[in-house]
Amino acid sequence: MTTSQSNLSEFSAAAATEDSADINQLRKPLKVDLSAVYDFLGSRTSQSWVDAAIADLPTIIQDHANCEKKAAGTAMNLMFRYEFSYDLQRKLAQLIREEMLHYEQVLGIMHERGQAWQYLSAGRYAKGMLKHKRTYEPAAMIDVLIIGAFIEARSCERFAALAAVIDDERLARYYRYLLKSESRHFEDYLALAQSLSEENIDERVAFFKTVEADLISSPDNELRFHSGTPA
Ligand SMILES: [Fe+2]
Ligand SMILES: [Fe+2]
Repeated sequence: MTTSQSNLSEFSAAAATEDSADINQLRKPLKVDLSAVYDFLGSRTSQSWVDAAIADLPTIIQDHANCEKKAAGTAMNLMFRYEFSYDLQRKLAQLIREEMLHYEQVLGIMHERGQAWQYLSAGRYAKGMLKHKRTYEPAAMIDVLIIGAFIEARSCERFAALAAVIDDERLARYYRYLLKSESRHFEDYLALAQSLSEENIDERVAFFKTVEADLISSPDNELRFHSGTPA
């Protein structure tokens, strides 16, 4: 090994925190307490969605890749739009880094499975919440942060649901690995929403809880990572 290679591997080892761990190195599933996620969400994923997802994993994996990229993009937009808060900038910077890492990891999984990239339109889920976003500031910002918390919490709930039944142990392990960062993202978005709002956000959270639960439980013609009950 040359000096530069050894420096590089030392750097990689130092950088390999839990969130940047090489997925090939993951040995055992991380145990994460999801009770806060389940309390926050107004519903649980139906068995029929889980069955449909298992029957069409390539679609779920492709949509998951799209979701990771969109999560980073949304956080980047927030970062440019709301520059006044140190806390927001710092949390978003970390979030973008982690979502891009997840994106890279999902691309790696697709490559390993021999799955070609395929265009997949966005489902109704995020749009279905964003259409209720208030149009004036700072309410618009608070709503986007609350919606972000729901998307992260639901992702977490779905990863756990899939990990419990998936036959492919490598994929199941990867989904369990994601629980920790995605549940932290949920808490970060929610804490930012509350700390940046002058009013209590409980009522707004309760409103989006109903909207989100309806998008998840009502019939949906498309299968996506965050789609509703298969029609
Ligand atoms: Fe992610
Ligand atoms: Fe996330």
